[in-house]
Amino acid sequence: MKKGYTFFTLFLLAVCCSVLSCNNGVQKKTTAPLALKDAFTGKFYVGVAINRKQATGQDIKGQQLIKQQFNSLSPENDLKWQNIHPERSRYAFDAADAYVKLGTDSGMFIIGHTLVWHSQTPDWVFEDAQGKPLTRDALLKVMQQHIATVVGRYKGRIKGWDVVNEALNDDGTMRDSKWRSIIGDDFIEKAFEFAHAADPDAELYYNDYNLYKPEKRAGAIAIINRIKAKGIPVAAVGEQAHYGLVYPALAEVERVLTDFIKAGIDVNFTELDISVLPDAQGVDGADVSNAVRYDDKLNPYTDGLPDKVQQELAKRYGSLFALFMKYQDNVGRVTFWGLTDEDSWLNNWPVRGRTNYPLLFDRNYEIKVPVQQEILGVTR
Ligand code: G3I
Repeated sequence: MKKGYTFFTLFLLAVCCSVLSCNNGVQKKTTAPLALKDAFTGKFYVGVAINRKQATGQDIKGQQLIKQQFNSLSPENDLKWQNIHPERSRYAFDAADAYVKLGTDSGMFIIGHTLVWHSQTPDWVFEDAQGKPLTRDALLKVMQQHIATVVGRYKGRIKGWDVVNEALNDDGTMRDSKWRSIIGDDFIEKAFEFAHAADPDAELYYNDYNLYKPEKRAGAIAIINRIKAKGIPVAAVGEQAHYGLVYPALAEVERVLTDFIKAGIDVNFTELDISVLPDAQGVDGADVSNAVRYDDKLNPYTDGLPDKVQQELAKRYGSLFALFMKYQDNVGRVTFWGLTDEDSWLNNWPVRGRTNYPLLFDRNYEIKVPVQQEILGVTR
């Protein structure tokens, strides 16, 4: 009898233990931080710009993290004109195809970046076979064919396009580019017209940096109104959001939101990263032609990011995401410009060869827990 009792006690104990450990398992699961994409479901997409190794799966770890954390993809380089259409009669679709396949297979909201830009566009685009500048009509034809081909190829899969990128100077005037000098200011409306014709269901965006500067923002609002006046829908403006730890002030970012919303335009934060390094001669934004000479003083964290700065980075991300949440009805997407710190363009701009720490994942593919906590904190 006693033996039976003991056996029964042991059996009960075993059941309790397994329930407890099971509960622990559940407990762990429910307290484990949500993936970013899940934490912001119903609010806005959380995206990441990916490079070729990540798109093709050569960077397996990177690809796993991308699938785990994000629900929107942007191509960091592979849909730019010089990559996808390097020669007049040659398109190079392999990398872009891999990118779109990854996004499609993983059910992501896929972005196309970018159709018309002053940078990374080969010279042949603007010239005839003899090297003479094209006429307006001839350049419009090149533009139309490129857009019809690229947008057409991914119709229904790429859901949103950065149709025109960085057409403005920081003072809000139109940037001098070959597009503008040959076609005229309406090269922008034309690009949108061609993109809309190629995929009427795709979202179309005007994308630029430093839209926290009021003059530049006014320029972007004017551009978007001109496009809309032609009856072409503009789904949102893209504020790239290449920011620093202290600039722009949060109030300036809020004005980006309130001013565009007042003008009837939604806002996506399309290339978010936060440089933690000293300002290089006051260069801000993202003009790829800016270059500053290397100096050790500009590169203080080669041995790792001090905890204090990591905390500042976390707080900065937290306050930005709190703002995005506040205006969630008019924010469609927030996209990090790169997965890990190792991948970031900010290691080489505006100074080549620095060690920057602007993103969510570190160089070992580890999520930066304080940053993650601050970002997820805004959802509670
Ligand atoms: O792939 C080649 C490689 O074959 C070659 O050996 C190497 C030598 O320099 O260059 C490699 O290409 C580089 C490419 O990034 C891929 O790493 C280009 O030189 C370099 O200019 C290019 O920089 C990109 C830059 O745009 C210019 O296209 C950055 O990765 C990319 O992050 C950056 O993204 C832009 C957005 O499109 C628009 N907004 C600003 C943002 C930051 O500049």
